[in-house]
Amino acid sequence: MFAMILLTGATGYIGSHTWVELLNAGHEVIGIDNLCNSSEKLLARVESITNIKPNFIRGDIRNIDVLRKIFQSHNIDCVVHFAALKAVGESVEKPLEYYDNNINGLLQLLRTCNEFSCENFVFSSSATVYHTENNPPYFENMALGPVNPYGWTKMMSEQILRNFEVASLSTRVAYLRYFNPVGAHASGLIGENPLGAPNNLMPYIAQVAVGRRELLSIYGGDWPTVDGTGVRDYIHVVDLAKGHMAAIDYLTQQKKSLTVNLGTGVGTSVLQLVHAFEIASKKKIPYEIVSRRVGDIAVSYANTDLAKKLMGWSAHMGVDQMCQDVWRWQSNNPSGY
Ligand SMILES: NC(=O)c1ccc[n+]([C@@H]2O[C@H](COP(=O)([O-])OP(=O)(O)OC[C@H]3O[C@@H](n4cnc5c(N)ncnc54)[C@H](O)[C@@H]3O)[C@@H](O)[C@H]2O)c1
Repeated sequence: MFAMILLTGATGYIGSHTWVELLNAGHEVIGIDNLCNSSEKLLARVESITNIKPNFIRGDIRNIDVLRKIFQSHNIDCVVHFAALKAVGESVEKPLEYYDNNINGLLQLLRTCNEFSCENFVFSSSATVYHTENNPPYFENMALGPVNPYGWTKMMSEQILRNFEVASLSTRVAYLRYFNPVGAHASGLIGENPLGAPNNLMPYIAQVAVGRRELLSIYGGDWPTVDGTGVRDYIHVVDLAKGHMAAIDYLTQQKKSLTVNLGTGVGTSVLQLVHAFEIASKKKIPYEIVSRRVGDIAVSYANTDLAKKLMGWSAHMGVDQMCQDVWRWQSNNPSGY
């Protein structure tokens, strides 16, 4: 077990679920977040789930003085790095903000790790790094080739980390390529809480079901898939959080880097997800099919054998469970935190 883990983007969607799992497993954690896409109200929820008061610093990871202060006062030997901007469409409109936040933030973190000899790093990468001409399922050794600035920040971050590993021989990195995280904690106390209009399908469906939005727009009904709508690999956020625990165990025990997909290996279409949500919520989800978005693809899902082989981890929860948990979270918290 590490002495102390620094969690960046700790109050965000995946960060908060991982924080809960880490605290429940007895890890010492300090969280940092600038709250650009999350709320400090989350902290009380984490405390009521875990009975532990979370150790939190409000700050921006691009500010190296803030990072240095944290490393000076805590014996941090592992960073789990979630903090990033993540909306694909917005990244096309504001590429400089995405490169500044996601790349510059990573550089300041690595500089600080270097200064304080912190040698273990868990990185939130994404399925968006894969070249869209690969035929799914995606294997970790397939060609990379992002199609938007957000995806490029993830691929460039992987490259920066790989170069850093060579220069600093004792550094070990877990490159975790997430597919489509959805779901919420079973308590209904924490879940995805987008500020503004949701960029992802599941929170949009949930907000339509709870009456915050009128209609779901489905981009494309003529894809070569089971029902014409896009197919993705949805993974329960708690399974994903447990994937981080497995990666931390791997770094501790094997003292080696690894690159793995975190998905279920199962593809689900938009309409299949909508129907599963209708069953879970007992609500009708009105939708319209609109034209495809530029850059979208028909099908994306993971091959998950490597994560199983190397870390002994696989996802357990299916789409029905994901929908039930999202509905519990959304109906208990119709306006978020
Ligand atoms: N949710 C997904 O669909 C998905 C898929 C693949 C990869 N990822 C990656 O996983 C990570 C977490 O995603 P999430 O869904 O929890 O997003 P999120 O927006 O809920 O969480 C990210 C958190 O980082 C914080 N943050 C952003 N920039 C910061 C900065 N400069 N300094 C300090 N805090 C900062 C935000 O306030 C937010 O709380 C991101 O790196 C994202 O790119 C997410």
